Amino acid sequence: MEALITDLLKGARGCVVQADNLAVLAELPDGSVDLIYVDPPFNTGKRQTLQRMRTVRDENGDRTGYQGHRYRTVRLGTTGYLDVFDNYLDFLEPRLVQFHRVLRTTGSLYFHIDYREAHYCKVLLDAIFGRACFLNEVIWAYDYGARTTKKWPAKHDNILVYVKSTDDYYFDADAVERIPYMAPGLVGPEKAARGKLPTDTWWHTIVSPGGEERTGYPNQKPLGILRRIVSASCPPGALVADFFAGSGSTGAASYELGRKFLMVDNNPEAAAVMARRYAAYAEVAFVGMGAEPDNGPERLAGGR
Ligand SMILES: C[S@@+](CC[C@H](N)C(=O)[O-])C[C@H]1O[C@@H](n2cnc3c(N)ncnc32)[C@H](O)[C@@H]1O
Repeated sequence: MEALITDLLKGARGCVVQADNLAVLAELPDGSVDLIYVDPPFNTGKRQTLQRMRTVRDENGDRTGYQGHRYRTVRLGTTGYLDVFDNYLDFLEPRLVQFHRVLRTTGSLYFHIDYREAHYCKVLLDAIFGRACFLNEVIWAYDYGARTTKKWPAKHDNILVYVKSTDDYYFDADAVERIPYMAPGLVGPEKAARGKLPTDTWWHTIVSPGGEERTGYPNQKPLGILRRIVSASCPPGALVADFFAGSGSTGAASYELGRKFLMVDNNPEAAAVMARRYAAYAEVAFVGMGAEPDNGPERLAGGR
């Protein structure tokens, strides 16, 4: 697999591999990846699923819709992956060790996790990368879904950012799209027009269940989050890898921004979603895939 991936990445703009990420990591050369973003299963103890549904016209249907016709909803099936681990940290550790090995000396790891596991993962990552190489904890705050009244509703994820070396890591703040000031009147027209650099707290909506961007894969991450990460932490033309790729948002953002990508996922459903999502891209190779591109998300319900 090493030769295949290396050859593909020399010529191709992107590569999707359907396989266990540990097997792929073991074959990658030392220092060959510029940026790793990963969003592993969060150890929720459940199967993560999205229901795929379609609304069809049926005069005996249960609701009234367009032009007063009756409609009913047909369940098309579910897309998902298992998020149950006997020992989550034992699962992660060998993979994190490999992430460190395959990163270039200027490279960064963005490790996306939730508040229930973030502190355990931070201790593990400190041991592997070194505490000094911990660069940031980015808080991605969103505002969607039901709100419990039994505690503060949890509406954020944590992204732990590590660099391989504190001396010469790549970080281009100028390449990051700027955001509006909260009080533009206080900073003057020139600054207000330019906007400000985001801090380590990122307000960004989730992928809208009814929006263009959705793929039908559970826990799909927004392109806006990935664009920011790729712009700041991967040089143009260099290689971004995601070893828990899911719907392939990381590859989509990388391609759009002129970076190469390597996407790995062991779930054939993820591979099928990526095959569909990348169908119009030039020079993308698919390795170890039996799956056909899937037919798209239809209408979605459920998710994390
Ligand atoms: C939270 S999802 C990733 C979602 C992704 N960030 C997106 O935007 O669509 C986690 C993914 O990790 C994959 N996965 C879990 N264990 C894996 C393994 N050992 N090797 C490769 N992929 C794995 C699952 O199939 C799932 O697609």
